[in-house]
Amino acid sequence: MEIIIQPTLEQATGLTARLFSNFMREKPDAVLGLATGGTMEALYGALVATNLDWSRITTFNLDEYIGISPQHPQSYHSFMWKNLFNHVNVPVKNVHIPDGLAKSIPAECETYERKIFAAGGIDLQLLGIGTDGHIGFNEPTSSLASRTRIKTLTPQTRKDNARFFGSEELVPHHAITMGIGTILESRYCVLLAFGARKAKAVAEAVEGPITSMNPASALQLHPKVTVILDEAAAVGLTNKDYYHWVYDQNPDRHEY
Ligand code: GLP
Repeated sequence: MEIIIQPTLEQATGLTARLFSNFMREKPDAVLGLATGGTMEALYGALVATNLDWSRITTFNLDEYIGISPQHPQSYHSFMWKNLFNHVNVPVKNVHIPDGLAKSIPAECETYERKIFAAGGIDLQLLGIGTDGHIGFNEPTSSLASRTRIKTLTPQTRKDNARFFGSEELVPHHAITMGIGTILESRYCVLLAFGARKAKAVAEAVEGPITSMNPASALQLHPKVTVILDEAAAVGLTNKDYYHWVYDQNPDRHEY
């Protein structure tokens, strides 16, 4: 696992945008796994500003709430179109986000998995992390081998996401999410976390034991992961100085 700690959220976002831009220039037909949440807003803004060519890019989002329409202002469909897709030249047919209103949720999940496979798998999967360690909506105790499926949100996640809905009661109880097994099959994972409220989940995910109680810890099993943090999210890391030192010695670091 590569751990990159930047002094501020802005610097961490800028670095991630450069990493993404380089990746997309090297592989203009890349299959990108995309994420939502407050953490991603500035990143997508920075990516839009770089004027990259998205004409051959394919995207798969991690998750979507169940029971709200794609037009709902807090759906992940709305989030993605508002923050990214409306501003880049990605073909609509290349954009994939689970349908939270599908008549059969299991069938929708199966189809989603098949589409990822048919696209050749995910080249780069972007991830945020919940305060309880969730990735996508894989809540604690999710199977580390799980595939795309329905998950019930924990009270903590619904509380965390209430800020977007205005009140906790309005946050859906269920979501469709790629599984941890699905995420681990992507060829490269980039996890972003900013702010002190993520510090505990980050420390457990990076330095703790692999456990379904912190689903992000499953990334320790993945051969290629970059974790990008601001200082506040890194405060719980025991080996922080080591990560700084390793990054400073890395001759490739300026690629970012
Ligand atoms: C949601 C999403 C996750 C995201 C998490 C953190 O629960 N399903 O994919 O990582 O929120 O969001 P934020 O960046 O707003 O803290």
